[in-house]
Amino acid sequence: MAVMKSLLNRNSEEFRRNEAAYLAKIADLHARRAAANVGGPDKARRLHKERGQLLPRERVAALLDPGSPFLEFCHLAGEGMYEDVPTGGSIITGVGLVSGRPCMIIVNDATVKGGTYFGITCKKHVRAQRFAWQHRLPCITMVQSGGAFLPDQPNIFPDDGQFGSIFYNQIRMSSEGIAQIATVHGPSTAGGAYIPALCDETVIIRNQGAMFLGGPQLVYAATKEEVDVETLGGGEMHSRISGVTDHLAENDSHAIAITREIVANLGDIARQRWDVLPMREPVYDPREIYGIVSHDTKFPTDNREILARLVDGSDFREFKQLYGDTIICGWGRIKGFEIGILLNSGVLFSESAVKAAHFIDMCCKRDIPLLFMADVSGFMVGRDAEEGGIAKHGAKMITAMTCADVPKYTLIIGGSYGAGYLAMCGRAFKPNAMMMWPTGRAAIMGPEQAANTLAMVKDDIHKREGTSWTNEEREAYKAPVRKTFEDFANAYNFARNTWCDMVIDPLETRDVMAMLLELAGRTPAKTSKFGVFRM
Ligand code: COA
Repeated sequence: MAVMKSLLNRNSEEFRRNEAAYLAKIADLHARRAAANVGGPDKARRLHKERGQLLPRERVAALLDPGSPFLEFCHLAGEGMYEDVPTGGSIITGVGLVSGRPCMIIVNDATVKGGTYFGITCKKHVRAQRFAWQHRLPCITMVQSGGAFLPDQPNIFPDDGQFGSIFYNQIRMSSEGIAQIATVHGPSTAGGAYIPALCDETVIIRNQGAMFLGGPQLVYAATKEEVDVETLGGGEMHSRISGVTDHLAENDSHAIAITREIVANLGDIARQRWDVLPMREPVYDPREIYGIVSHDTKFPTDNREILARLVDGSDFREFKQLYGDTIICGWGRIKGFEIGILLNSGVLFSESAVKAAHFIDMCCKRDIPLLFMADVSGFMVGRDAEEGGIAKHGAKMITAMTCADVPKYTLIIGGSYGAGYLAMCGRAFKPNAMMMWPTGRAAIMGPEQAANTLAMVKDDIHKREGTSWTNEEREAYKAPVRKTFEDFANAYNFARNTWCDMVIDPLETRDVMAMLLELAGRTPAKTSKFGVFRM
């Protein structure tokens, strides 16, 4: 037992100011999620209901086991990205329990532009598949989609990570025995028809679901053949004549019941590979995190106080506490799951980087998952740092983190900048999941530094060309750069672009992590093979 000691003063003015600022951010987070949950415009939702269909979120609720959590991925994708398209990108993705088994659930929202795929829809669908693949989760895709949103072609059609990847992932997952199931709830055209056609088992709804590579209008335009939706691709036709679908349902609820039966018969659920101890609440109240995180980005947060409110029993066994203290490394449990945590406490120095690499190596040897809690302005710069070999020591940390083949998670709690963002398991290093708190920010550099850097480049140009600019002109030049970098770094910009999987309330962190670890623990352990460590 190593129960952390808190020195927090709950009655300080600073605590109160931080808390008020954080609570406003939490209200904003919930408002954004609520807006995303609405789906398409009133008119489209009314029409959908008049057609006797469940709305997409009603479909998810009916599919899940009673009381199952739904861990939603990329909930806020596409926020403000396209005209007339609500947050969410016309698709819902998340993990929940179906017939007692965790599944990835992917649902088109036909109330948004006929459930068509925008660039961001493709990215969100593909991201959900990659998580499913990594965790060997059956995928249930509830299809009702007009295929590609044609005006967004460059972001849908040609590249890896776009629509074609959806097919590729389905097929490769199927080849690895990861079940692919689809329910066809409405007219599904082109890509929307291929998704169910490429599944292992497909359910279609009579007089409601339809699948065709080209709809009636397109067929008429191409061949002058006149044919109605049901004849061309309805449930009866596909279940009796073409054999494209496997089960004919009477309505949404019936299709969902059939799907639950299919999942109930997928064979054994993989065993949990880790010993999970009984969960203990932290000794210190996690709600106090709101008052701990500095509301003013110019002042650092005491991240040790956060840690004491995240791990079971506030019990944290620290490694090398007296060395390289700008990174805190150690072991604790979250809801019973053991985890190795790396948490920033200042800028990364050579000592901290080497300590992190050593710690990561040990966690890999012991099959302990890693949580990177990022709040870092980057690696130390300057002559002393360079002479001390910061580049080779930083490289060791990045090599260890990259090659660590234990489940890895990234949680950005404050500003995460430059190579610091990357070394703390940025998105490119494929963490199993990447979360941000509403206070999380990430960019190549901070707004002030970016504005100063670009202004200094201009200074040099002026000098070279024998011209000059006034202080006012210099400030006027810096202001928009600062703003652009601020907007870029915002957690919701990351969420909008699917650069992170979710923005979470600090109070949700323990639940989210426990769900993620429960899923990862049901995959086979891997041996980490490291690249050359530059000594
Ligand atoms: N690309 C761009 N916009 C599309 C679209 C597409 N493939 N399919 C539908 N839309 C838009 C419609 O223009 C409409 O936009 P609006 O809300 O601004 O008016 C909105 O999506 C809803 O379409 P609507 O036809 O009113 O909805 P619906 O529920 O009655 O029918 C479909 C939905 C998908 C069956 C029908 O729109 C359709 O057949 N679309 C063409 C699908 C197609 O041929 N896709 C080929 C892609 S490769």
